Amino acid sequence: MKLQARRVIVTGGAAGIGHGIVLALLEAGAQVIVHDVNAAALEELEAEARSANQSVVTACVDVADAQGVRDEVDKEWSIGPIDILVNNAGINIVKDPFDFSDSDWNRILSVNVGGVWNYSQSVGRHMAERGGGVIINIASLASTLASYRRAPYVASKGAIGMLTRALALDLAERNIRVNAVGPGAVSSTGMAANPGGLQDDAAVAYTPMRRRATPRDIGNAVVFLASDDAAMITGQLLMVDGGISAGTQIGSTWSSVL
Ligand SMILES: NC(=O)c1ccc[n+]([C@@H]2O[C@H](COP(=O)([O-])OP(=O)(O)OC[C@H]3O[C@@H](n4cnc5c(N)ncnc54)[C@H](O)[C@@H]3O)[C@@H](O)[C@H]2O)c1
Repeated sequence: MKLQARRVIVTGGAAGIGHGIVLALLEAGAQVIVHDVNAAALEELEAEARSANQSVVTACVDVADAQGVRDEVDKEWSIGPIDILVNNAGINIVKDPFDFSDSDWNRILSVNVGGVWNYSQSVGRHMAERGGGVIINIASLASTLASYRRAPYVASKGAIGMLTRALALDLAERNIRVNAVGPGAVSSTGMAANPGGLQDDAAVAYTPMRRRATPRDIGNAVVFLASDDAAMITGQLLMVDGGISAGTQIGSTWSSVL
């Protein structure tokens, strides 16, 4: 197993893509600690793991709360070192640009970018003292391609792309690799179900692979980047989007080759 006995923190791991990441990590042999703001979903996750004869450790944490993150990370580290950090927690709000309130903007940026920063700093500091580790950020197709009616989200995901690169440079000589995974359209997740989000038909139509990614597809990419198979990979954004970012969809419906 690729990640046998490695200890991992996954933020936002109680539902959606994070849940798929947790399952992939468990299957790869990792010991998984899930931090999420949704206490009820964390309890469900624990019960699900127990019924599969597995175990996850959980803590209710808001990733935007810098002091709360520091306290919880220090507590966890006093039990044992963390080998891998997966910054997955994120939120989206879909509106016309002029309808976003100040608090919408602040909340999206403080969860999506602030959360990645808070955890990378808190866990990364310990990793550096110990001699290494791996950080993986869940970015998005929106890190490189804008989409409609979600300007603060797109800005936050663009920032995660550059934060990944900047931290990769700063932390490489401390033996910490920092990469990102960019999901395209993903099935069965809360965010995908947002009003104004992509409907199934539209998402499938413009995805060259003609299906939505599953949370498990994203989890598999995380396992690869976390493993020693990716030992020379840092500062990269690995798109898991079924080819959406490979090019334009112009021509996809033409019936013959010109
Ligand atoms: N769903 C998609 O199609 C899609 C596409 C590209 C990128 N992403 C990214 O994947 C990640 C997961 O998205 P998802 O679709 O699974 O979302 P989701 O809403 O299904 O799940 C998000 C999880 O994060 C938790 N969370 C939210 N705010 C939090 C906070 N402040 N502190 C701690 N936990 C918090 C939620 O409780 C939930 O368990 C996000 O970073 C998102 O931007 C999603």
